Amino acid sequence: METQLLSANAADLSLAAQLIQSGQVVGMPTETVYGLAADATNPDAVARIFEAKGRPSDNPLIVHIADVSDLDAVAAEVPPLAMTLADAFWPGPLTMIFKKRDEIPLITTGGLDTVGVRMPNHDTARALIRASLKPLAAPSANRSGYPSPTTAQHVLHDMQGRIPAILDGGECACGLESTVICFDEDETVRILRPGFVTAEMLRAVAPSVVIDSGIFRDAASNEAVRSPGMKYRHYAPNARVTLVEGSAERFRQLIALQQNEGVYALIFDSDAADFPYPHRTFGSTSEEQGNLLFAKLRELDEIGAKEVFVRMPEKEGVGLAVYNRLLRAAGFDVIHLAELK
Ligand code: TXA
Ligand code: MG
Repeated sequence: METQLLSANAADLSLAAQLIQSGQVVGMPTETVYGLAADATNPDAVARIFEAKGRPSDNPLIVHIADVSDLDAVAAEVPPLAMTLADAFWPGPLTMIFKKRDEIPLITTGGLDTVGVRMPNHDTARALIRASLKPLAAPSANRSGYPSPTTAQHVLHDMQGRIPAILDGGECACGLESTVICFDEDETVRILRPGFVTAEMLRAVAPSVVIDSGIFRDAASNEAVRSPGMKYRHYAPNARVTLVEGSAERFRQLIALQQNEGVYALIFDSDAADFPYPHRTFGSTSEEQGNLLFAKLRELDEIGAKEVFVRMPEKEGVGLAVYNRLLRAAGFDVIHLAELK
């Protein structure tokens, strides 16, 4: 199969929609990361997503809609609080989990009776959903386990020959996947995956918000977790990643001690002045780090990095999402450097 790179013009959009309607998988830009989109109501089409990605069949897909009014077609029960959150954050990087309707087959939800739903804040994504006349299931468009794609070229790198087409919608504005939440019985909002819609932002609208401890834990594959995605290795480049907690000065000393070939540092812009060792930078604010993280991890593989030491990001706001992705990319390998008195 030859993978076509399509632009977001009307002719290409209608070609992409035809592919979706015939049960094929199309690379779709969103504001978070690129997705692998197919008709969420068609089990054969959804099976093609799992195959293209090499994804475990018990890891559910997010269903994307173009309008709030489409929510009732996929979700069986929508608590009033969810409508408040939709008003505040949709279209945008927030996925909410609901009881699913029968129209959404079990293959889409990894066998669960719930479905994650999101309205993306990207014109091309919503145009594709509307033209397809279907809700679109779309996981991130990387090969399972690898960092998510934030450009059409990243998708092509991972999916060349595995899907018929990719819609090029430019670089993703966020660069990290959506915030995933569910509603506990008392309408407490539970964050299952942190993202650009932060706990602080949710607290401004919802009476009670908790961060699920699974975000920070290395769940063994048989452990019960709230979200199946927590069980799997994720976001990891081929290079070995180690996350390093400690001051810029101590970090520099750690890098100076490395003897192996192919060691790189991934550091903040502010650390880069006179940094004498091989490195890449990934911004200074948490938002910039979110934008750049996956692209930099992919770039480090491309330049032949074998081992990457990464400076610890902030753990608040969007920083929590950066931290969560790095923890998993590192397989929970964290070094805590003692500070010198
Ligand atoms: O930003 C995003 O969310 C991107 C773009 C393409 O929309 N999509 C994305 O999908 O990141 P994916 O499949 O890579 O990650 C979906 C996450 C997984 O961790 C999955 O386990 C969780 O959401 N999830 C989906 N449906 C769920 C459900 N019903 N219950 C619990 N967790 C769910
Ligand atoms: Mg993913």
